[in-house]
Amino acid sequence: MVKRVQIETAVFPVAGRGTRFLPATKASPKEMLPVVDKPLIQYAVEEALAAGARRLVFVTGSSKRAIEDHFDSDQELEKLLESQGKSDLLKQLRSVLPSYATCIYIRQPAPLGLGHAVLCARPAVGNEPFFVHLADDLIDAEVPCLKQMAAVHRTKGGSVIGCETVPHSDTDKYGIVEVAGRAGPVQLMRSIVEKPKPSAAPSNLAVVGRYLLTPAIFDHLEHIGHGAGGEIQLTDGIASLMKEESVYAYRFNGVRYDCGNKLGYLEANVAFGLAHPQLGDAFKAHLIRLAATLAPKKSARTQGRPRKM
Ligand code: UTP
Repeated sequence: MVKRVQIETAVFPVAGRGTRFLPATKASPKEMLPVVDKPLIQYAVEEALAAGARRLVFVTGSSKRAIEDHFDSDQELEKLLESQGKSDLLKQLRSVLPSYATCIYIRQPAPLGLGHAVLCARPAVGNEPFFVHLADDLIDAEVPCLKQMAAVHRTKGGSVIGCETVPHSDTDKYGIVEVAGRAGPVQLMRSIVEKPKPSAAPSNLAVVGRYLLTPAIFDHLEHIGHGAGGEIQLTDGIASLMKEESVYAYRFNGVRYDCGNKLGYLEANVAFGLAHPQLGDAFKAHLIRLAATLAPKKSARTQGRPRKM
């Protein structure tokens, strides 16, 4: 039977060490890296709120105080902006988190893997379906990705996993899924495997950092033990869950930027910079000038000559 529920809780695992961004992430979490003018974690929270979540659970590790501070009010800074008449900035600062949302912080004692981080959130989630959002996968979409996934859950029930196709050569960077059919954005999952070599991958349909999970996942995470890389893998928990419940792969509408690696992060800054209401036009003009300087120069001999067709 399809259960029609509002997803109240979103879990944000933010306890990874972010080694690919060192030294930037030595004292500050990866999720606080800004894309143009907002940290990744704020885009994540905005997406979850847009999908209806009201309870925001952050699974934190060492050096994650900055995230708590970001979502806390800062009276001193607010007074300063007020005294300087910077009302626009003050408004922006106060709208970082709406009053109806609650933040819960849970410490992951050691970075034992994404599955373990999700398991740490169990006491705050309870017995309802919930979202898991990895802030370093930034998705630009007309309808926020988690909202799309909640709609799939409303019609199909079960768990829903955000997926997209990746180049075959990249399968060893992702959880890779095998689905029952070929057509359509929503497919029943048949199998899921963590970071298979391209030669062993069942497909090139990859899991991205968006999950809508039923609470049954917790019992599976408790029992799967350590998987790839010695970590407790969410992928293994989902593989175990699939044996007793429906799990759907969902090809979302939108563009994903992998902000966990430097190139993806730079690409996100360019895309969001171009779309920025105040900066977009000036940034575009700059990029056009820059592109002109980067284009290969025509040699004096070929300049002005008619081109051979
Ligand atoms: P990543 O695989 O990107 O690992 O984690 P990482 O440590 O953040 O980054 P690198 O690879 O060292 O650069 C995927 C997500 O899972 C969270 C991370 O915070 C990130 O959001 N995570 C991972 C945890 O919360 N706890 C863990 O033990 C592992």
